[in-house]
Amino acid sequence: MRILIIHGPNLNLLGTRETSIYGTERLSDIDAKCLALAKELGIDVEISQSNSEGEIINLIHSARGTFDGIVINPGAYTHYSYAIRDALAAVSVPAVEVHLSNIYAREEFRQKSVTASVVCGQITGFGSNSYLLGIRAIVELLRNA
Ligand code: DQA
Repeated sequence: MRILIIHGPNLNLLGTRETSIYGTERLSDIDAKCLALAKELGIDVEISQSNSEGEIINLIHSARGTFDGIVINPGAYTHYSYAIRDALAAVSVPAVEVHLSNIYAREEFRQKSVTASVVCGQITGFGSNSYLLGIRAIVELLRNA
């Protein structure tokens, strides 16, 4: 089983970015945890980060036929990118949306996700554990399919 993990914009700055919200873990720490979990679950994961909407769309397209599932944190694009929403809907590769912070407990503009309706489910508010729960969720979903 192959899972594509996509980190969206500004997540490359984790560790120093708004640490009171996102904590002090760096993206490389989260990636290491995802890779360790993948090993434990006996799956392959590939991890990409991009600050660009078009690149994220291309990554989603590239999952067609090469990945069984996607775990995506679209960052701020979550709240307004119809193009990323349409890409997720177009490829019909099952996806889970994850967020470090609880987007529903934050500013009003963050409380809407335009991508949530085209993914299998959303995990929000558990810090880096959101990614691990997201991986477990997509793997169980695929294994039970
Ligand atoms: C985020 C929440 C978004 O609102 C924000 O723009 C991010 C990170 C999260 O993981 O909590 O960049 O997706």
